This record gives sequence, C-alpha cells and structure tokens, in this order.
Amino acid sequence: MKILLLGSGGREHALADALSRENTPVEIVAAPGNPGIADLGRLVSIDASDPRTVAALAEQEQVDLVVVGPEAPLANGVVDYLQQRRIPAFGPTMGAATVETSKADTKALMLAAGIPTAHAETHRVASEAKAAVRARFGAPVVIKASGLAAGKGVIVCQTEGEAFDAIDRILDDRVFGEAGAECLVESFMTGEELSLFAITDGHDVMPMIGAQDHKRLLDGDDGPNTGGMGAYTPVSLSTPALVDDVTERVFLPTLHALRKRGTPFTGLLYAGLMLTPDGPKVVEFNCRFGDPETQAILPMLTSSLLEPMLAVARGARIGSMPPFTWRAGASVTTVVASSGYPDAPQTGFGIELPSFGDDIRVYHAGTRRDASGTLRTSGGRVFAVTALADTFGAAQQASREAASRIGFDGAIHRRDIGWREAARVG
Ligand code: GLY
Repeated sequence: MKILLLGSGGREHALADALSRENTPVEIVAAPGNPGIADLGRLVSIDASDPRTVAALAEQEQVDLVVVGPEAPLANGVVDYLQQRRIPAFGPTMGAATVETSKADTKALMLAAGIPTAHAETHRVASEAKAAVRARFGAPVVIKASGLAAGKGVIVCQTEGEAFDAIDRILDDRVFGEAGAECLVESFMTGEELSLFAITDGHDVMPMIGAQDHKRLLDGDDGPNTGGMGAYTPVSLSTPALVDDVTERVFLPTLHALRKRGTPFTGLLYAGLMLTPDGPKVVEFNCRFGDPETQAILPMLTSSLLEPMLAVARGARIGSMPPFTWRAGASVTTVVASSGYPDAPQTGFGIELPSFGDDIRVYHAGTRRDASGTLRTSGGRVFAVTALADTFGAAQQASREAASRIGFDGAIHRRDIGWREAARVG
C-alpha cells in the first residue's frame, strides 16, 4: 500500500505515524513533508496545492491513495483533479470544501436545514453590518471573515465599538484579502468548545473521540489567538449520547444538505461545536483533520484508520464498518512554539531533541534540516508533544514535562493544556 500524503505540519506527521502503525505495511511518500515524516517515509518537494503537480507525482509514484492534510489543496480542487484522473483521494472536492472556505454559504446551508448553530447575517457593506450589530445583535457579538483566514478571521467582540472596528478591518481594509469580501455578524454563544471529527462517505459517518484545543497563546486562555497551542482527548463532556446527538442533528443533516446541493462531502468532516446550555451548536465546519487535535486523537486509535479512508477514497460506503476503537486513558498534546509566535516567530535555531519512550510522541511542524543535517526551527509552531497515559492527570504532566525538555532558543509552551478537564476529573 503506497500513500501520497500532502502537507508538512504536525497533523500530517501524526497521520503518517498512524498510517505507519497499520497492520498492512504502508509506504509513505510525503509532499512536501517535514523532517519528522522523513523518518517514516520519503519526502518529495513539490507544490502540494497545485492539482496537476500532485496528480503527476501520484501517477509517477503509482500510489494507491492520496491523503490530503491541509485545506489549501482541497480549496484548490486537488481532489477534483485526482478524481478525474481516477486516482483514489481522501478529502472533499472543491465544492464540498466550501463548508470551510465559505462561512457565509455554510451558515445559509445550516440555517436552511435546521442544523443547530448561532443566528447570523452576512454583509458586504460595512455600514449595513454595523447597523445589524446596533439594531439586532448588540454585544458581545462575533464578527467573522467568510473565507479562509489562517485561523485569524473570527473576532469575538465584547463591545459594539470592537465590532465596528472588526467590520471595518474585514470589509474595508481587507486585512484578510478576498476572504473578507463578505463578513458574518453572529450571535455570541456561551459554553465549552468541542472538536468532533467524523470520517464520511457522504452518507454515513464514523465519528472519532472528541477533543478540545487551546487557541490562545498563554496559560489561562490569555493572550492572542494562535493556530492552537495544545489539545487533549477524551473530553468527559463528549459522552456517547452527545456524539449520537451530534451525529443525528449535525453530521447527517449537513451531509444530506450537501448532497442535495450537488456537492456531496467525502473525507473528514470536522465539526467545531459550542456546548451551549441549549445543547451542541455548530461554531464552524472544517473540511480536514484539525491541528493540533489530530496529534492528540490519532495516537489513541487502536483500530484501522487506513481502511475507512481507503473505502471513502474508492467511493465505497462505510455504513457497515465497525466503529473506531480507542485505547483507555488520555492523551494530552502540548505545542512547543518559537518566541515571537504568532506575530513574528524567531526561527533558525538549532534544536536538541531528547529521545522518549513510545508513550511520548513528538510531532514535527516548523522544523527543517540545514545543509549539514542539523535540525533547526523554521516556523511558529515547531513541535506538538503528545503524552499517552492511563489518567488525564498523568498525561497532562507527562506532556508538559516532555515539552519542557525540548531545547531551542526561545522555546515557549503552555503549561495548562486541558485545564478544564483537570478541574472536572481532578
Ligand atoms: N484546531 C483548529 C483547526 O484545526 O482549525
């Protein structure tokens, strides 16, 4: 089984790690990959977002499956092009990927299909968006750029003034470029967030265990938003009954609405949920595995990831497949980032990486090898350090300790990943 894996982050390293632990021997070619994935397969340096380049590599390598990690290749139609060339690919088409690439379209689809989500309006003109805030929403309120904005396009505003400023920056200043051609004015929801992933063939779903990520830079969920500073699973709030409820009221009706629209979704559907006092509501969908939740979730998997992925990529149904199974205990992932992250990460520093046992997984993200083979930092988020243990508390402590042993100049990490769960389970 030969797999072409697209992407270069910690999520892709975790996917490569899970796939290389399958019972079926797997050969991994990663494009462009990273030095961690290089230990599990071969790297090829191509533009992974270009459909023709990816298809040419897949044909040249005669791969059995292409797995797409990040959203950019999906938004560019890599899967559409691979499907035309009859190359099995795991991930949605460009039309289905709009669940993530157009928050405006997806909000309209959810509201029309009765899927639980916050009330929202879409606006293109700043004065109209501001009038909506003043007349119908008030504060706090959430202002969102509709398109892809590298995780920075959602602004929670505590006052009307903050909302007006966010609207100006999105619609008039175009700080997110064309992603800000439309903005959503959305009711503020209270509760805890939960990330729930499901592999889907477009009809049926195989949900994974729920995870919680930590978007703020600093302990206590303080400081600026980031791509994610850590995650943990399982989340005790994510009971089997809750997952069933989300399947019935969110995943299945969303998939039905997407089929009806003529853009059936296959691949990994990521529901970002708010667990409100009125039940779970969708904050957003993503069309791919989450980062860093994947680095916490996949090491807990004890059944095959490859089998449902391959079935979906080949156009088969997964409804009769057994559900995923998971090891007991807990998994906590701490991200180690460069100083200056997220605004101006300082990179290029040599890295000292201690060796760890199998219950600590160090997933590379912003690393590279220089001409002499020395491992150096090359990005904002450098590693995701996952600890597996029998209890949440032990996993949290092991993840924190392992993260603090990773040495490079200016390394930063949070020390409180999973603090909500710690308060629940002690
Ligand atoms: N963890 C957030 C994301 O993957 O978008």
